[in-house]
Amino acid sequence: MPGIVIVGVQWGDEGKGKATDLLGERTDWVVKFNGGNNAGHTVVIGDEKYALHLLPSGILSPGVNAVIGNGVVVDLEVLFDELEALNARGLDTSRLRVSANAHIITQYHRTLDKVTERFLGKRMIGTTGRGIGPAYADKINRVGLRMQDLFDENILRQKVEGALDQKNHLLVKVFNRRAITVDEVVDDLLSYAERLRPMVCDTGLLLGDALDAGEVVVFEGGQATMLDVDHGTYPFVTSSSATAGGAATGSGVGPNRLDRIVGIVKAYTTRVGSGPFPTELFDEQGEWLRSRGFEFGTTTGRPRRVGWYDAPVTRYATRINGITDLVLTKLDILTGLERIPVCVAYDVDGTRFEEVPVNQSDFHHATPILEYFRGWTEDISSARTFEELPAAAQDYVLALEAMSNTRISVIGVGPGRDAVIVRHDLLD
Ligand code: GDP
Ligand code: IMO
Ligand code: MG
Repeated sequence: MPGIVIVGVQWGDEGKGKATDLLGERTDWVVKFNGGNNAGHTVVIGDEKYALHLLPSGILSPGVNAVIGNGVVVDLEVLFDELEALNARGLDTSRLRVSANAHIITQYHRTLDKVTERFLGKRMIGTTGRGIGPAYADKINRVGLRMQDLFDENILRQKVEGALDQKNHLLVKVFNRRAITVDEVVDDLLSYAERLRPMVCDTGLLLGDALDAGEVVVFEGGQATMLDVDHGTYPFVTSSSATAGGAATGSGVGPNRLDRIVGIVKAYTTRVGSGPFPTELFDEQGEWLRSRGFEFGTTTGRPRRVGWYDAPVTRYATRINGITDLVLTKLDILTGLERIPVCVAYDVDGTRFEEVPVNQSDFHHATPILEYFRGWTEDISSARTFEELPAAAQDYVLALEAMSNTRISVIGVGPGRDAVIVRHDLLD
């Protein structure tokens, strides 16, 4: 079972980093296939806490080969800051490889991200401001810069000139910003070239060879299904393919190499940024969930929007991704609730919808139809088998499983690496 994809089911921050890390000791490769430093993964190992944005979480496991795939957009300053921070804590990061085809986030992408959001006013997406959207836009517009361009100054200069040509008109005439010079961009990028050279290669070839040799490759998705540019709540999405299909295109292996698709889903729901969120809570229960679950962004520190579990969203994600196993995280956070509401369907202006509506306006108008489950008060953080969970917690998990059309293989009961209940081995 060598190719395992990890994807977020909801709107991100489900605990994907922890899931990758959990598999880390038994995997040979971890490849990040989409997004960039808009992601934020917190991984707790013993007393140590790591916050990663750009690097795949697999970098924390000694012996794992970490790869940044072609589907990622890379901010070079962030890349080296993160590597240096891990090195300072004694981690060996020398096994990192970066795709020669990965695109680069530059200063002008970050600037454009921020000014575009400001211009959108009330319609703003609430992006992380890291330049993600503009970098992917340049990729699709065929004016992007790729890792391999760093090693040919002439080509790099030509490409930066081409990219800045239109952008400077936009920055100066529309956004009232100063023009960015070709020299400042080229000098900045070239300052990383020599350090990057040993890392940059044909990562699709490396991964293909690894899979041929029977090695285990984990494809670590950033963001999540509902933030996917095609399948999410467009336009309130990120600009990459965060669903399982993106694992193939974003890393350069064939879809038939993806053997297992693992969806990570929280026992309730959170969202950062704008866009529809049917089960969102605005009352003191929401405050309770936010503070109990530490729901503040790893990347921007923004308080996350919180709400109850949304079963149609999980069912949708199961279908879109072909999820074979779910990892249900943060079940421990629900401890203490007398009853736990779950959204089982939506009411859209008087009509019942069993599934996520395809029409965006319908989803904006959707209110949750809730079913209530019995809560529990026992501390579950030290449970390591399903049977050790209180009966009400077992019932809650089984009910979610029945509604999601796939099995819940792992249950998270705490932030630590080993605070999990494994019902089915993800590598079997
Ligand atoms: P990611 O973006 O999907 O990797 O998730 P984040 O790291 O942004 O957010 C998930 C947070 O939940 C992190 O702080 C994790 O340490 C924490 N976490 C993951 N699984 C569990 C769990 O089962 N219980 C608790 N209490 N915390 C968890
Ligand atoms: P992880 O990997 C949660 C959200 C932003 C915004 C939208 C677009 O930690 O789950 P972008 O900067 O990507 O153009 O912003 O997507 N967003 C995330 N929300 N978790 C993430 O990553 C996110 N990455 C982007 O808040 O609404
Ligand atoms: Mg996160």
